Amino acid sequence: AYLAQAQTPPMGWNSWNKFGCNVSEKLIMDMADKMVKTGMKNAGYQYVVIDDCWQVERDSLGFIQADPDRFPHGMKYLADYIHSKGLKFGLYSCAGSYTCQGRPGSRGHQFQDALMYAKWGVDFLKYDWCSDEGQNAQAAYATMSDAIKESGRPMILSICEWGEHEPWKWGKGIGHLWRVTADIRDCYQCLFDWGGVGVLNVIDKMADLYPYAGPGHWNDAEMLEVGNGGMTKDEYITHFSMWCMLAAPLMAGNDLTKMDKDTHEILTNKEVIAVDQDPMGEQGRRFMDMGEKEIWAKPLSNGELAVCFLNRTDFPWKLDYNWKAQTIYFANEVNIHANEYVIRDLWKHKDIGTTAQNTKATIPAHSVLMVRLSKKAK
Ligand code: GLA
Repeated sequence: AYLAQAQTPPMGWNSWNKFGCNVSEKLIMDMADKMVKTGMKNAGYQYVVIDDCWQVERDSLGFIQADPDRFPHGMKYLADYIHSKGLKFGLYSCAGSYTCQGRPGSRGHQFQDALMYAKWGVDFLKYDWCSDEGQNAQAAYATMSDAIKESGRPMILSICEWGEHEPWKWGKGIGHLWRVTADIRDCYQCLFDWGGVGVLNVIDKMADLYPYAGPGHWNDAEMLEVGNGGMTKDEYITHFSMWCMLAAPLMAGNDLTKMDKDTHEILTNKEVIAVDQDPMGEQGRRFMDMGEKEIWAKPLSNGELAVCFLNRTDFPWKLDYNWKAQTIYFANEVNIHANEYVIRDLWKHKDIGTTAQNTKATIPAHSVLMVRLSKKAK
């Protein structure tokens, strides 16, 4: 039952990437409203998560308090509001004594905190790893997981341990998703001294981790930067397409009140989201790496297949792809040699031929061609 809470990768919105510590009741209510009005909810986004800085101190009995200036009506009120929109509510805490922004963490208060979250109506907890104080990571996350399970309210547990102690090896059943890198930055390819990463860096880290993902337990490629302004439209398309190929949780991180047309088109592309949310829950794999030109594949239910041609180069990729010449290793049901498949372009929203012919396309620099293959009726 615990795993079933995240049968497909969780989808939602989180305050951190755009707003940092500048969170408030008003901001979160605005985002919940926009989640519905912009069609994000309809596209599958569900959780509205407040990241760090909602908390200031504990009361004399050790119970965690929301910042009374920023959240004047308290967390229960906000949770009720979010629930009234048909959405779910998420909060953030940390396994150490302090969060990454120096607010009170949950160490020594795990059961008390989980109980409080349950009382407020929290559905999702992102649990960070700052001031870890030498704790054993697995044990620290298991303690919070136990506390949540005892709280009497189902909650998703998002392990935010940055991949330092290989959470993919122990996270299943403790949490529902686990980060695999340090924090994402709004860039296509970038590595910071402190570990911060861009889109391609995350993809490369995720590539080897596919055996660890499945329904209820996902590799977390980090929250989305789509719409935050640091990348081109093609780069954001790559970012979003590849997160979906990787069966990654989709947590939007932009200002939903100021979404431009491109951002909206990307974040609500239902055909691409369907690849992410496929019930089989397989994480896609890189099956061909031709030096910065890669082909990724993700087996889908009903014997279908998503394929993503990823052009990492700075030049257009003139693709002329012979499906028959390739041995595609996929799941038994997907047999490119025995069957003819209809190819659908998931960004153009149209069928572009079948696997009996070569697929020709020009893939812009830093962009993708993402297609879905479904068996042609005989
Ligand atoms: C860490 C996490 C981020 C964010 C901040 C908040 O850096 O990895 O995702 O939650 O803390 O302080």
